[in-house]
Amino acid sequence: MSVTCLSEPAPAKLNLALHVTGRRTDGYHLLDSLVCFTSLGDELRLSPGPLSLSIDGPFGDGLAVDDDNLCLRAARLAGADIGICLTKNLPVASGIGGGSADAAAVLRGLERLGHALPADLQQLGADVPVCLASVPARMQGIGERIVPLPALPPLHLVLVNPGVALSTPQVFAALEQRENPALPEIPDFAAAEALIRWLRGTRNDLEAPARHLAPVIGEVLAALNAMGAGFARMSGSGATCFGIFDTAPRAAESAETLQRHGWWAMATELAQPPVPG
Ligand code: C5P
Repeated sequence: MSVTCLSEPAPAKLNLALHVTGRRTDGYHLLDSLVCFTSLGDELRLSPGPLSLSIDGPFGDGLAVDDDNLCLRAARLAGADIGICLTKNLPVASGIGGGSADAAAVLRGLERLGHALPADLQQLGADVPVCLASVPARMQGIGERIVPLPALPPLHLVLVNPGVALSTPQVFAALEQRENPALPEIPDFAAAEALIRWLRGTRNDLEAPARHLAPVIGEVLAALNAMGAGFARMSGSGATCFGIFDTAPRAAESAETLQRHGWWAMATELAQPPVPG
């Protein structure tokens, strides 16, 4: 490998809608989800080996540098000796990709350095395939079936996390209804209003069990609605929620107000498609 350092963004993943449609015999749940990515995310830097990981950033303290770390597991799975620096901007265990996004960014970086992608990505995490693509997509199966979608309309988003880490297996275990209808057909949305109308006919089936485990999620959603969000919902298995606002300044103002609750609240936009090269 040539002596190259490279940066790779790990955008936050949002499940705009997430239906749980069944359960496999191995206990994993079948999902049908509209997934998108934001310009806010973690940041990875890769430099020539040996294999190592250092973590900084606002949420760096929440993450152990041990053999289970998904960045190290991704590099090992790809057979790569590589130095990894992770700037952790996103809260840990919060329903917006986190570890899967970081592992996917390591794999994207390694691919740019000439490494082949490992065959079985899902042993790293169910969300790794969609995070590897990092484009708006319909995600089905347990996360392995990814159908990229046309670009979504611009969205002015606020992400809010009340500081409660939720365990994904615990949220799935608290789910009462495991066989729900699939998502309605996903059209090509002309504008944010059309997307919001479509979202109103969908759900995040993990919201009810997550709210049962962390009732503060209800407060976050109520606060987003009170701030004037056109739509608010929890992402993934929580506890991060998103609100869609009319304009970027309204999103920024709302994020500032929500921070006064002591919550992590950030205004962001949908990620721009990656620039080739
Ligand atoms: O693969 P990941 O580490 O993201 O999943 C964590 C846990 O969440 C799994 O061990 C499983 O209990 C649950 N899960 C699930 N169905 C999925 C994804 C995750 O039941 N499709």
